[in-house]
Amino acid sequence: MSDIVKIRQNEWLPKIETALNDAVSTAGSISPELEDAVKYSLLDAGKRIRPILALEFCRAAGGNPEDAMPFGCGVEMIHTYSLIHDDLPCMDDDDLRRGKPSCHVKFGEDTALLAGDALQPLAFETMLTQSKLSPERTVKAAAVLAHACGAAGMVGGQVIDLGNEGKQVGLDELRKMDAGKTGAIIKAACVMGVIAADGDENTEKIAELYAENIGIAFQITDDILDITSDEATLGKPVASDIENSKSTYVSLLGLDKAKREAERYTELAVEAVAPLGDKADFLIAFARMLANRIN
Ligand code: IPE
Ligand code: IPE
Ligand code: MG
Ligand code: MG
Ligand code: MG
Repeated sequence: MSDIVKIRQNEWLPKIETALNDAVSTAGSISPELEDAVKYSLLDAGKRIRPILALEFCRAAGGNPEDAMPFGCGVEMIHTYSLIHDDLPCMDDDDLRRGKPSCHVKFGEDTALLAGDALQPLAFETMLTQSKLSPERTVKAAAVLAHACGAAGMVGGQVIDLGNEGKQVGLDELRKMDAGKTGAIIKAACVMGVIAADGDENTEKIAELYAENIGIAFQITDDILDITSDEATLGKPVASDIENSKSTYVSLLGLDKAKREAERYTELAVEAVAPLGDKADFLIAFARMLANRIN
């Protein structure tokens, strides 16, 4: 891993953990069981890719990265809820997540469903109450995330994913599915970082283009790892996609071509941030790290 990625990850991971912890505690819960389930899934786990992207896009757009922390927490909460629901028996039916039993295995399906439900408003509560930015920028960021996680983005993509089980679909369909289920939230993270910095429209466009490309590359790599990795490294079951007859880049193109597609999209992301000059150094190294990740 390149030095800049290591240094920034070391800088951010503890800060993100503290901010997530504080946000959950501040919001409170009238049910200790629900609070346990939310904390179990959200804290001490996950690569925190999306908050790091929000913080680093804020920096790249000339802002104080800490200003984007509430947005980073919001996007990580939405992402975590999507994972809890994604693992449910009615969806991918996976028993392991982030190296431990999935939320529904530990707490039961009913509580897991509700923990996911609780994380959604918690994301927006955190953004709207913890942001130190102007109301205009805060509301703009919340609207970006709201749009990205709903029918026009993540949830829509998840529906397409389930509908494509057992089918042979083309590349356009796969791109649409991945742009929705995975790309939309990654894009929101990047754009919210630019909003936190009060970046201009051109920088927002750069963030969108970068994110659209790493978003597809990220899901292709996730699909590759589902076949090539092992449970201990990945922290989630392998061969889940085959078991569920999922349509993926790997099922359509095979491993080698899928790997090349992930690399191609990664380099498109790298090109997208080139106009930012040396401010893009981390974003470039991060995109390449994501394409070569092992979990
Ligand atoms: C997994 O996301 C789900 C996908 C969108 C492919 P991550 O690989 O970022 O999972 P965590 O957050 O590190 O657990
Ligand atoms: C997940 O895609 C996308 C979302 C959770 C929105 P996957 O179903 O491939 O993710 P994993 O492999 O279970 O993490
Ligand atoms: Mg899934
Ligand atoms: Mg899954
Ligand atoms: Mg997967």
